[in-house]
Amino acid sequence: MTTTVPPGVRSLGSAPTAGQASAGPRLAGRPAVTAKRGRLMAVASGKGGVGKTFFSITLTHALARRGQKALLFDGDLGLANIDIQLGLMPQYDLGSVVAGKLSLNQAAMQYEPGGFDVIAGRSGSGSLANIPLSRLQIMGEDLALLAGRYDHIVLDLGAGVEKSVRQLAKAADTILVVTSDEPTSLTDAYAFIKITAMERPQTDIRIVVNASNSTREGERTYQTLFKACQGFLKISPPLAGIIRRDARVRECIRNQTPILIRSPSSEAAMDVEAIAERLLAP
Ligand SMILES: Nc1ncnc2c1ncn2[C@@H]1O[C@H](COP(=O)(O)OP(=O)(O)OP(=O)(O)O)[C@@H](O)[C@H]1O
Ligand SMILES: [Mg+2]
Repeated sequence: MTTTVPPGVRSLGSAPTAGQASAGPRLAGRPAVTAKRGRLMAVASGKGGVGKTFFSITLTHALARRGQKALLFDGDLGLANIDIQLGLMPQYDLGSVVAGKLSLNQAAMQYEPGGFDVIAGRSGSGSLANIPLSRLQIMGEDLALLAGRYDHIVLDLGAGVEKSVRQLAKAADTILVVTSDEPTSLTDAYAFIKITAMERPQTDIRIVVNASNSTREGERTYQTLFKACQGFLKISPPLAGIIRRDARVRECIRNQTPILIRSPSSEAAMDVEAIAERLLAP
């Protein structure tokens, strides 16, 4: 992996560590104020290839466009590819963090075209899929500390329900579960929700229906999943939103350019903007 940094991308190397960030400045003569911590949102799916990475990038971008200080974290340990979708050649990545060479926030870089920060997951030294769970737990805690520096952190998770995915998801305040209209994607989303709800019953789970043929069809898909959750799990996850199937998504990924730059008025882009808007609503 090359270490060149393309234009528009700046490393945040000299920033304080996550631990320092969480402490916040203390003013003489005043009691210490607990720093307001940003919200950590994980994007999960069950089945792979349903649009988690596309959605994570676009959601982070949409939040940044609304004046939010946002960080996009590539938590797909096996097949990290945020760097590819954004056309980045990261100088630092999660591999350096896991190797103990960098703190988490030292691995963050500014993605200037989008106005948000990114921690890339790709590791020059190979897959991160076999990181011990104890190391992942520490990473989750570091992420929670890093949230003190941001309004929002969006965590793009790997597909599936493996322990490593669930361990990282534990750090999140909100889990956005992405499904498509396909039955296999629905059953896998249900499996993810079931395990998460059993392990941590109070988790704030919301559903995103992606690549839907129409808003109506997306609503039907949501209702199917919602009824299964209500009937069998006794939980009622709300709908975060529906993103319509849109040829521009593929085109933007092929061009390694975020949809909110290349096709901001496309249906899929507007649907994600609407989700960001709702997530920010009090
Ligand atoms: N709204 C959409 N409309 C049309 N195509 C879409 C949409 N969302 C995603 N796609 C297509 O789905 C493909 C997979 O998207 P993406 O890489 O974001 O999925 P993923 O869930 O992150 O996959 P993985 O599980 O492998 O990490 C994209 O290449 C894109 O072509
Ligand atoms: Mg992905």
